[in-house]
Order: sequence, then structure tokens, then C-alpha cells
Amino acid sequence: MKSMKFLLRQQVNIIRSLCNHLSMWEYTDKVKEAFLHPKNVGEIKNADAVGEVGSIICGDALKLYLKIDKETGKITDAKFQTFGCASAIASSSALTELVKGKTLDEALAVNNQDIANVLGGLPDQKMHCSVMGREALEAAIANFRGEPVQKKEEGRVVCKCFDVTEEKIRKVAIENYLTTVEEITNFTKAGGGCGECVPVIAAILQEVWSLKPVEKTLKPKKLTNLHKIALIQEIIEAEIRPGLQADNGDVELIDIEGNKVFIALRGMCTGCMMADVTVRGIQSKLQELVSEDIVVEAL
Ligand code: FES
Repeated sequence: MKSMKFLLRQQVNIIRSLCNHLSMWEYTDKVKEAFLHPKNVGEIKNADAVGEVGSIICGDALKLYLKIDKETGKITDAKFQTFGCASAIASSSALTELVKGKTLDEALAVNNQDIANVLGGLPDQKMHCSVMGREALEAAIANFRGEPVQKKEEGRVVCKCFDVTEEKIRKVAIENYLTTVEEITNFTKAGGGCGECVPVIAAILQEVWSLKPVEKTLKPKKLTNLHKIALIQEIIEAEIRPGLQADNGDVELIDIEGNKVFIALRGMCTGCMMADVTVRGIQSKLQELVSEDIVVEAL
């Protein structure tokens, strides 16, 4: 039988390794709290829906259980079992809290960014944990509705180290407006092992964003403020300024406050009789490519 001293030493080692893990990353207080005191851990016996994603071999796995009221269609209980790091536990805890009380369609509107937001953000390298939460939710709801969960075989596996398909890379890139391989690694882990798949990921991103530059169909459904600002800047640089500069005019982005975009017309555009038309044109371009709620004001 193990001595009390041995067990104590073992506990001290576990606590030490948890503390090391927490201090290794810049976690918010909310992540630390959700990791140290996670909500809804465990299994729901006779769950109405179960979604299982990830694999222990790849480092993270999550099993989500839902209890659904058949009359109201609302999620009355959600629990999880996970194998993963502090962010995986915190993300799973946040996910279960987010979906409880929601209808299935309302729950499906919860995306990985919402999970990260509840936690006050996640370190970039840990965003894949929030993506895993969203995937488990999709899988559980598909399970309840009797829909086939998309099989991995349907997509070409691009990253063999982490079993990530091309389809997943495209989906996560578009939903989160990711433009670099590093961001894809942060959100999916793809490319974070041997690195062999990095050129393929770069080619996929090239195709998603460069060959089809910011088309309406690629407009992200839900943008964080940071993504919105980056997208507005990119559209002004790539789509609006070259046209104005060709006529010796120009525009400068001054500020963005929520959906209000403040600009200043420059060059031949300054004092031009058609200035109002130019501003309205910029506004409709941003409404088309970023959000219908954008309002542009010239200073
Ligand atoms: S194949 Fe993607 S990191 Fe190894």
C-alpha cells in the first residue's frame, strides 16, 4: 500500500504541475476560475444528445452531453468530459453554461469566439480549444436530429499529425477570418507538429483569401471588433483606395467606433462636388463586405 507520504508527494506534484501550466500561459482570471472550478463536469445518464470530438492521441478530446426538453426544444442540462489542457476544460465549462436554456437553433448560433469571449479571451495558441467546443456542440445537435455527423473521409486530411481536414481549415479560416498559417495552427493545431503540411495550409489560405478576395459569400457571420477593424482596414486598402488614387484622390481611415467608420477624403477628393457620392460609395462597399450596419462619416 502506498504510504501517506507518497500520496502527499504525489498531490504536491500534481498541484505544482497545474500551477506551472497556469503560469506558462497568460490566462485571464475567468479561464483560471473555469479551469480550477469547472461547471457541469461529468456524464448525463440517458442524455438526449451526445457529441464527441477530438482524439486523445492528438492531445485533446471532448464529449458533450445534452438533455433536451422535447416540448420546448430547449437544452435543460449540459455536461462534459474532456481530456486536455486548462483551456480545454475552461472552454468546455463555458460552452455548457452558454447553451443551457437555449433552443437548439439558438445554441447553434454560439460560435468559438463566443466561448472565448465568455472566458475573457484565450491565448492565441489555445483558440483550438474553443473550436473543439463548437465542434462538439454541432456533433451533439446533429446526433439529436439524426443527421449524419460529417465524416472525416469526406475531406482530404491535410495535417496528419493532428488529423485535420482541408474542409475544417477552410471553415475555421472563413468563420474566424484567419489569414496566416500561424493562426490556423492556433485554431486547429494543424501545422503545429512536424510542419510538413504548412505549405498546403498556406496554399489553401491563398485560395480562400487571395484568389477570391473578400467576396460577399465569405463575409464572416459574426465579427469580433478586432476582426471587424482588420477587415475594414483591408477593404479600404485593397478595394477603395486604388480606385480613388487612380483619379488623384484618396481616403484616410481616421477611426472606427462600433459600426461608425470615420474617414477623411484626401487629394482631389477634398472639396469635390461629388464628395457625398464618394462617401456613400465607400459606405455601401463596407456594408456589402463587412456589415449592413456600417455607417461612414467624413470628417
Ligand atoms: S502533418 Fe501537419 S504538422 Fe505534421
